[in-house]
Amino acid sequence: MTKVFKMDKDAVDVSLIPQFILNTGDRIPAIGMGTFGSDRYSGEVLAESVRGGLRVGYRLIDCAQVYANEHLIGAVLAEAFEEGLDRSEMFVMSKVWNNNHSPEKVLESCQQSIEDLKCEYLDGYFVHWPFRNHHESFADIDDRDENSKPYSHNEFMETWRAMEDLVEKGLVRNIGVSNVTIPKLKLILRDAKIIPAMNEMELHPCFQQGELFQYSLDNGILPIGYAPLGSPNRPARDKTEDDYSDWDHPIMQELAKKYSVHPSAICLKWAVKRGQVPIPLSSTRKNYLANLKAIVEDPLTAREYSSIRSVERNSRLIKGHVFLWKGALDWEDLWDIDGTIPGWNGYEK
Ligand SMILES: NC(=O)c1ccc[n+]([C@@H]2O[C@H](COP(=O)([O-])OP(=O)(O)OC[C@H]3O[C@@H](n4cnc5c(N)ncnc54)[C@H](OP(=O)(O)O)[C@@H]3O)[C@@H](O)[C@H]2O)c1
Repeated sequence: MTKVFKMDKDAVDVSLIPQFILNTGDRIPAIGMGTFGSDRYSGEVLAESVRGGLRVGYRLIDCAQVYANEHLIGAVLAEAFEEGLDRSEMFVMSKVWNNNHSPEKVLESCQQSIEDLKCEYLDGYFVHWPFRNHHESFADIDDRDENSKPYSHNEFMETWRAMEDLVEKGLVRNIGVSNVTIPKLKLILRDAKIIPAMNEMELHPCFQQGELFQYSLDNGILPIGYAPLGSPNRPARDKTEDDYSDWDHPIMQELAKKYSVHPSAICLKWAVKRGQVPIPLSSTRKNYLANLKAIVEDPLTAREYSSIRSVERNSRLIKGHVFLWKGALDWEDLWDIDGTIPGWNGYEK
């Protein structure tokens, strides 16, 4: 007898969750669940969220090797597959960490993630950061990897070739970049055999990254929005006094009041209407259910959606200080603010 995966009574009807189509032709749910513990949430807590998330309708899970919880999430997925959840209904994503960029290690890391996540293949696999610069969990804002270097396009492409091989080997269906900028993406697009299907980037109303967002879309790359709620519990190293809170902006407050929802719901309605896939994290059932419901209920009007454009504050929250190299001036150097890549003279190729 065919087993049917049992959903909660108040689950969202999965068929109502919008989907986007990737440049490979694959479909991806318009919202996913994040799993980065931000040095606060234990792997066990987040695996429980995934367990509950599947029962309320999440079918996209954003994982990463460095989150150190893939084995726990994999146990939850294995149980769900055993109970009748169809593997093809799921979109499972992971990322290769910065100390595993060499081609052999890309393959090993990917195989390890597949084994840990018990998912046979990955629907999405990202290069987590475009640098080989590593940091340990719980790093402080001043911690630096002594061997850190600025972006090297040759090294990145060596890693990207290994990512392309994963697709050819059938281990991964879609490959993606994360934490890149337009100057880096231009070079990657110039030299890639398989162009990225997705670009995972920080996206929330106070940090809309309009140019990179549009550049990605124009090149057939789907933006995946991380920290979509403004990551209020991000690691301490990523908090500064100048950061804005999306939830406190008067427009977000006003819309939340109008729809009788938390401002998080407005962030998510906006994200999906804009054409990006938000991947909010929540450790509480009430919140992750509300987040899913937000995108199937009460869409924003065109005017409300447009009004959120003015919430932009260029407030990057995940600044990345810990990836800086000796001689770099500040975290802006990671993000090619003036349109050039610091430390890269363009003559490597
Ligand atoms: N590619 C990358 O480099 C990168 C970087 C950062 C993050 N990510 C991915 O993006 C995911 C999301 O980012 P994030 O976790 O930093 O931030 P986020 O999703 O913007 O915010 C998560 C926080 O919001 C709270 N929250 C969630 N729903 C809520 C609701 N309805 N009402 C009130 N509070 C709510 C959660 O608290 P509760 O637990 O109490 O609900 C949690 O602390 C990560 O988990 C990870 O998968 C990727």
